[in-house]
Amino acid sequence: MNKPSCSLFLLSFLIVTLFVAEIDGSKQSRALDKLQKSKFNANSQIDMNHFKAQKNILLDAMIHSQDGMKEKDRIEKLPGQPNVKFSQYGGYVTVDKLAGRAFYYYFVEAAHSKETLPLLLWLNGGPGCSSLAYGAMEELGPFRVNSDGKTLHKNNYSWNYAANVLFLESPAGVGFSYSNKSSDYDNNGDRKTATDNYVFLVNWLERFPEYKNRDFYITGESYAGHYVPQLAHNILYHNKKANRTIVNLKGIMIGNAVINDDTDNKGMYDYLASHAIISDQAAYNINTFCNFSSNSNQTTECNEATTEVYKNTLFIDVYNIYAPVCTNHNLTTRPKRISVAIDPCSDDYIQAYLNRVDVQEALHANVTKLKYDWEPCSNIISKWGDSPSTIIPLLHEFLNNGLRVWIFSGDIDARVPVTSTKYSIKKMNLPINTTWYPWFINGEVGGYAEVYKGGLTFATVREAGHQVPSYQPARALSLIKHFLNGTPLPNTQRLSDYNLL
Ligand SMILES: *[C@@H]1O[C@H](CO)[C@@H](O)[C@H](O)[C@H]1NC(C)=O
Ligand SMILES: *[C@@H]1O[C@H](CO)[C@@H](O)[C@H](O)[C@H]1NC(C)=O
Ligand SMILES: *[C@@H]1O[C@H](CO)[C@@H](O)[C@H](O)[C@H]1NC(C)=O
Ligand SMILES: *[C@@H]1O[C@H](CO)[C@@H](O)[C@H](O)[C@H]1NC(C)=O
Ligand SMILES: *[C@@H]1O[C@H](CO)[C@@H](O)[C@H](O)[C@H]1NC(C)=O
Ligand SMILES: *[C@@H]1O[C@H](CO)[C@@H](O)[C@H](O)[C@H]1NC(C)=O
Ligand SMILES: *[C@@H]1O[C@H](CO)[C@@H](O)[C@H](O)[C@H]1NC(C)=O
Ligand SMILES: *[C@@H]1O[C@H](CO)[C@@H](O)[C@H](O)[C@H]1NC(C)=O
Repeated sequence: MNKPSCSLFLLSFLIVTLFVAEIDGSKQSRALDKLQKSKFNANSQIDMNHFKAQKNILLDAMIHSQDGMKEKDRIEKLPGQPNVKFSQYGGYVTVDKLAGRAFYYYFVEAAHSKETLPLLLWLNGGPGCSSLAYGAMEELGPFRVNSDGKTLHKNNYSWNYAANVLFLESPAGVGFSYSNKSSDYDNNGDRKTATDNYVFLVNWLERFPEYKNRDFYITGESYAGHYVPQLAHNILYHNKKANRTIVNLKGIMIGNAVINDDTDNKGMYDYLASHAIISDQAAYNINTFCNFSSNSNQTTECNEATTEVYKNTLFIDVYNIYAPVCTNHNLTTRPKRISVAIDPCSDDYIQAYLNRVDVQEALHANVTKLKYDWEPCSNIISKWGDSPSTIIPLLHEFLNNGLRVWIFSGDIDARVPVTSTKYSIKKMNLPINTTWYPWFINGEVGGYAEVYKGGLTFATVREAGHQVPSYQPARALSLIKHFLNGTPLPNTQRLSDYNLL
């Protein structure tokens, strides 16, 4: 996802006119770029109204018996995997019988206390990107793929030290998730994704009934800043409608998240300028003279500024402005020793691994022999029909309903940077309960936090890029543990605060 070409959008979204968002692109970054390019175009036919739950779905008709399916989904062992004690499952859950639409999931039980630890769902964004590719294999899952593309090593900071973790490939057309009705790939959008995710979840809980009453949390990053709150909204909606707790949702957490288009956009240029990547003048000119909601010709000042942004970001990884970029996409015959937190060529290793026939068999994936290969971000999904300009009303709804809401931000991401997140939270107009303070892990500052009245916590993660658990695995594990426990991030330097492993 870290190809320099990703930055192309900065220039091209002013030129290209699209009617409905085209989001295909095999990298996480390109998918978001393409969607935003389309949204900031006056001719856009993307529905940007506030998100609402789909009211006409008949839930009872969508819940199917899952008897005996859990055991069939048990993964004995993944090819090249080191020995572990916890259980893994993988398989399909049908979300629409008529269409033949099924979502692929990968589930890792907690490394200890699986009977009492909460259930956590992780979603990646895009739109169109796979939570198996990024979340499970590159960020917070129990294994990382070696540079040989066929063996795995352990992630010592896997989030299954804190929870039972569920990864979902969504919507149809992402990774191994598919539909037998090919027109489904042209009719995706936020609303349909949220409905399908909800239908997936209630059926998954039928398959794993021991988790039905478990405390449940949803987390995710980037465009999952839409998916996570939208699924949470559907859960609240159906719980209320049924007058009972169908899903025991306790809270959500989103990181480097797309929250509010205006502030996200302004924050991105301000970040690039304040981090010595573009000139102050370019950021000023873009924020002053570009009108992304206009179909009128852009001014010369605007065009010059976007050209400058394009030239200056082309050769760095905007998802982690200080990270090395991948210079050799070849696999190696033997696994390389890893000297940085995450190898910048990881996408290539994962793509090789997940396209292996033995791996797909072990995962119980691709059982219908799809006609295209597995990609980290879909190139099958062609259209994106709806994407609200803001999800702030949903965040207010959660706080009013007593859910825990945390927003985190890796502070060296320039794509959905900490400035964007700060501007978006400011827009929520929440009174502060605990003012900005450094939080600690192992005697060092892990980041900074601010807590707002009503239950919202904002936490930065120091020296982390867009994929926070990839770049700062120990800090990310501490963050998720405090979130799940509902305890404030520690404001003291004590070394024994948290026993990590
Ligand atoms: C999709 O079609 C294949 C081939 O007919 C079938 O085996 C599979 O069960 C279908 N998927 C769903 C979710 O109905
Ligand atoms: C993970 O932990 C094991 C056991 O403590 C250790 O041998 C290994 O070096 C650690 N791996 C990394 C990448 O830190
Ligand atoms: C909802 O359920 C509670 C008991 O759990 C009951 O007291 C209440 O009347 C119900 N409300 C409606 C609208 O059915
Ligand atoms: C942007 O353009 C639209 C449509 O031409 C116009 O309505 C709006 O006022 C403009 N916004 C700014 C900030 O100039
Ligand atoms: C934009 O510029 C072109 C070429 O100069 C011109 O033909 C067109 O009418 C302009 N469009 C608007 C909306 O001003
Ligand atoms: C990658 O592999 C190809 C084919 O074996 C080879 O031609 C190329 O030189 C390799 N690239 C690098 C950077 O080693
Ligand atoms: C599914 O399997 C077929 C046949 O082995 C393969 O050609 C295709 O690339 C696979 N697709 C995915 C999405 O894994
Ligand atoms: C403010 O923080 C205190 C201490 O953590 C907590 O007890 C209180 O409930 C919070 N108040 C609000 C309105 O969130």
